[in-house]
Amino acid sequence: MSTSHSPSALGAEARAHFDLRPELTQLNHGSFGALPTAIRLAQDAIRLAVERDPIAAMATVRHEGALRRVIDGVASRVGTTGDRLAFVENATTAVSTVLRGVALRAGDRVVTTNLGYGAVERALEFIVARAGATLDVVTIPFPVSGPDEVLELLKPRLEGATVAVLDWITSATALVLPIVELARVCRESGVKLLVDAAHVPGHLPMDLDALDADWVVGNLHKWGFAPKGTAILWAREGGDRLLPLSISHGVAHGFPRAFDWIGSRDYSGWLVAADAMAFADRWPTLMADRRRLCAAMAERIAERWGTTLPAPPTMRACLATIPLPGALASVEPATLWRRARAANMEVAFVVHEGQTWARISAAAYNHPDEYERFAGLVMEWVK
Ligand SMILES: Cc1ncc(COP(=O)(O)O)c(C=O)c1O
Repeated sequence: MSTSHSPSALGAEARAHFDLRPELTQLNHGSFGALPTAIRLAQDAIRLAVERDPIAAMATVRHEGALRRVIDGVASRVGTTGDRLAFVENATTAVSTVLRGVALRAGDRVVTTNLGYGAVERALEFIVARAGATLDVVTIPFPVSGPDEVLELLKPRLEGATVAVLDWITSATALVLPIVELARVCRESGVKLLVDAAHVPGHLPMDLDALDADWVVGNLHKWGFAPKGTAILWAREGGDRLLPLSISHGVAHGFPRAFDWIGSRDYSGWLVAADAMAFADRWPTLMADRRRLCAAMAERIAERWGTTLPAPPTMRACLATIPLPGALASVEPATLWRRARAANMEVAFVVHEGQTWARISAAAYNHPDEYERFAGLVMEWVK
């Protein structure tokens, strides 16, 4: 087991643990993560066991509490206990689960920001409109000067609101918001807070019980090395009124056990979730190391492109959104994505406020040379 690395040594060593196509430069870990081969094999073994003896294998989940043991393992890694944590399919499902469970009424005001993820915005619009409530979207400028600017803009708008839906790490703009301070403001103002932490498990340290939120949703399939379709939903004490979207046998148990059996499905991804999160233990400095790599590479790329990073380092972790040089900022993301793919390079190109940006990530398997190649490729496009 390795304990400390240079960014290049970690990237090269880690790459061998993933199934990624050898020619592919993967600088978009943020969208769907990447599954270590060992976790894929563990999941395959569970699927095989189900096919060999379906009734007995499914009974472990439905009747024998197999998921509860896994959830306890995951809980200990995100600062909580299993009695406050449920598995859900993904962040999208978790957000709808919470919002459809909140009894919004006409006249209620729900606060969010213009940096939210599209699917979450759509869910908010739908649910708020159905209840006759108001959606109050606070504009956070991008570029942003720092966490204080975010706090100053949100504080007055949180006053008197019913519910707030705020990101911990934003999607297209890749900003780490001051979530601890925001949760405190919500608590002091009597506002219920749903934190969209889709990108956070395995990316930043989490202490869910210490964070003064009401609900937190997080994907394990992005940075937690878990199979796609594996996410967590945390609720503070009293979360017992929260129920899954599909009501099933366990409804009488309330939160979280009502979420454990939601009908016949493939539970193999959830069953390997604790092992997936433990996969990172082989690199004890992984989070800090990748954050440093991302910071250094974002600065290097912006310098080569002659552009300025839109946020201070305190608001970035292992994702960074970088302004593109020259006229590329007005080219459609799909066009740039196709050009990058033609060079075997996967990078997220995102649109925010009518401008196209590049969003890079720093995962265990990334190496500084990959970012240099990406910076150089874009400079060729400029020419
Ligand atoms: C901030 C944020 N919320 C929610 C989601 C939705 O995640 P999923 O597609 O796993 O439901 C994403 C996906 O990238 C995201 O970035």
